[in-house]
Amino acid sequence: MTSKTPINDSSSIFAVTIDGPAGSGKSTMARTLAKKIHATMVDTGAMYRTVTAKVIDTGQDPEDEEAVAKVARGIQIYFAGEDSTRTMADGVDVSTRIRRPDVNSLVSKISAYPLVRQEMTRLQRKMAEGVRVVMEGRDTGSVVLPSARFKFFLVAGPSVRAERRRLEMAQAGDNTRREEVLAEIMARDQMDSQRATSPLVKPEGAVEIDTSQLDIDEVLERMLLLIVSDGCDAP
Ligand code: DC
Repeated sequence: MTSKTPINDSSSIFAVTIDGPAGSGKSTMARTLAKKIHATMVDTGAMYRTVTAKVIDTGQDPEDEEAVAKVARGIQIYFAGEDSTRTMADGVDVSTRIRRPDVNSLVSKISAYPLVRQEMTRLQRKMAEGVRVVMEGRDTGSVVLPSARFKFFLVAGPSVRAERRRLEMAQAGDNTRREEVLAEIMARDQMDSQRATSPLVKPEGAVEIDTSQLDIDEVLERMLLLIVSDGCDAP
């Protein structure tokens, strides 16, 4: 017998994970889905970016894992604002700071440190405790929340991903050329997929969606179709 789980029931704990490479549409889809199903959104990439920005801004040596881990342990990260889209570090809104080029170039290195991942994973699990959550990143379905109710793995061709990221950067006033963005994305893909701790992988049981030719509504429709057909009422 299958019973329907109403996803508006605030007592039910309900986690959706969305993983994938840079520019695959994770953040946009996590934000859109979270809004639709009235869930909290956790952007785990923003958390690694926040640690990276603090390492730079406090003059820590990025080569020193212990010093970087100390920064990760000492920083208070949380999400605020409408739809939890503002990233806060020790009470300061760092949403713009963490998208700057210096952070882009260093974040793969910082996020590969096992001690940093350990601390962020602990924090991410805590953020998911007792709430309905949509969590996005590189290892949310494989490591952080392996028993999440729904797992998605988003992919898209490198040039599509580079163009999306270029537009996003241009909106933030950074006019880096597309070729440079593509090279940076490819380098990050390689580092994120090949690192020893929690590499970017398609999590077991995840549904893969190629977003290259799909718009936001089409991806959302596929996600909701799965959520509803699995026995959860549409919101
Ligand atoms: O999604 P993003 O581009 O904001 O992520 C920034 C970096 O953080 C990315 O290069 C890899 C790292 N990251 C990670 O290692 N694990 C996660 N769960 C999320 C991001």
